[in-house]
Amino acid sequence: MPAVSHPPGPKPRFLIGNFPLASLDPLKTFTSWAREFGDIFYYRAGWIHVYFLNHPDLIESVLVNHADNFLKDRVIQNSRWFLGDGLLTSEGASWRRQRRFCQPAFHRQRLQSYAETITSTAHEFLSSWKDGETRDLHQEMMQLTLHIVAKVLFSVEVQSETAGVAQALNLLMKHTSGARMILPPAVRHLPLPFLIRVRQAVRRLDDVVYNIIRQRRAKGDVQQYGDLLSMLMGAVDEDGSRMSDRQLRDEIMTFLLAGHETTALSLSWTWYLLSQNRSVEATLEQELRKVLGGRMPNFSDLPQLCYAEAVIKESMRLYPPAWSLARTAAKDCEIASYRIPAGANVVMSQWIMHRDPRFYEDPERFNPERWFSEATQRLPRFAYFPFGGGARLCIGASFAMMEAVLLLAAIAQKFRFELVPGHPIIPVPSITLRPKYGMKMTLCEV
Ligand code: HEM
Repeated sequence: MPAVSHPPGPKPRFLIGNFPLASLDPLKTFTSWAREFGDIFYYRAGWIHVYFLNHPDLIESVLVNHADNFLKDRVIQNSRWFLGDGLLTSEGASWRRQRRFCQPAFHRQRLQSYAETITSTAHEFLSSWKDGETRDLHQEMMQLTLHIVAKVLFSVEVQSETAGVAQALNLLMKHTSGARMILPPAVRHLPLPFLIRVRQAVRRLDDVVYNIIRQRRAKGDVQQYGDLLSMLMGAVDEDGSRMSDRQLRDEIMTFLLAGHETTALSLSWTWYLLSQNRSVEATLEQELRKVLGGRMPNFSDLPQLCYAEAVIKESMRLYPPAWSLARTAAKDCEIASYRIPAGANVVMSQWIMHRDPRFYEDPERFNPERWFSEATQRLPRFAYFPFGGGARLCIGASFAMMEAVLLLAAIAQKFRFELVPGHPIIPVPSITLRPKYGMKMTLCEV
């Protein structure tokens, strides 16, 4: 093991160290440290040692080459509180088994069958939108993607419950991020107002999810739907056992949450960027007119919607819905010649890598054209990783790209959006990168 103990890093405050997430502008703080200290920097947040990696090769070494040395970080581990042991939070053999059960729901043929639901749901949503009205586009996108994921993966209409489910999921995201996520489990039962609200939200979601399971069991033939829920209910382990209702609940909860928030964010940030870059919007409209000529897009249009795809990629470069990934070292290891002790946190940030001038020319500029350039084709694998990478790569990555491109095309050919003057847009790095005050925009029919 190497002799040098820590990489360089910010000066610690006596005893407590550094808590960048509690600073006024955490993204700015992390970025300035990355630029000052280079490929790897270190700080201590209370008792937690944090190693922050700012080079694609180092990120690859954690997510791919030495993935077995690492576990999901404390924040994800603690989200077991409400997500239970679903695909996102589980580890080892249990994770491998669940991934095997879920994977067929994301095969290409399945995706093709989801496209129709995606555009028809968008069509329903659009029919209630009126020229000139103001809406919070972020909330709209959250409801739209929640509808879609519930329909395609579980064949349920959450129509009547969407607002309640979205509200409960929102509340969980808000109250279980940042420092609150590392509260010891015993504290969760205290009668504090925010904990009471979290417990209520979990109960509300449990009701919805157990209801989905009950309804499906009541229908008898669980296989007939061919959706993720059928796959999970039909899955048989080597010992002949099937998933319990509790395991099904954890998986459904995981997919409802992981399967809608991030895609909604990718679109919300896209609407914002388009509203600030009218020439990009004009090029997009041109492509949509040429490829679709006013009709709804479908799966077979995707290869022609190249610019729309580049817009989504570029939007996720500048505003990655998952702004960072973290792992906890399961045992002592070495990164960039530094010893990383067991229990330390290793953080990799899409926000920082995606804006690194070593890899992107004019990195702050929203320029979808860059995705057609040779320089971008030659990027190191982890200079761009909105969906993570290695074995724990987002299982919904292809689905999410297809959904985002189809929704962008379906909506942008009908409406363009203007940010309400004076509405502040502040990205907040909680588990995901959310607009602090939502995204109030005026709808303008195209
Ligand atoms: C733009 C949209 C999306 C983004 C940016 C995104 C991002 C991510 C990232 C970065 C991870 C890796 C987390 C880690 O390694 O710690 C992940 C995992 C995951 N995502 Fe997504 N995701 C998106 C959409 C979706 C969708 C649509 C679904 C499901 C329908 C989904 C389900 C999951 C699940 C279940 C995992 C855990 C996979 C595993 O560990 O095996 N995601 N996602």
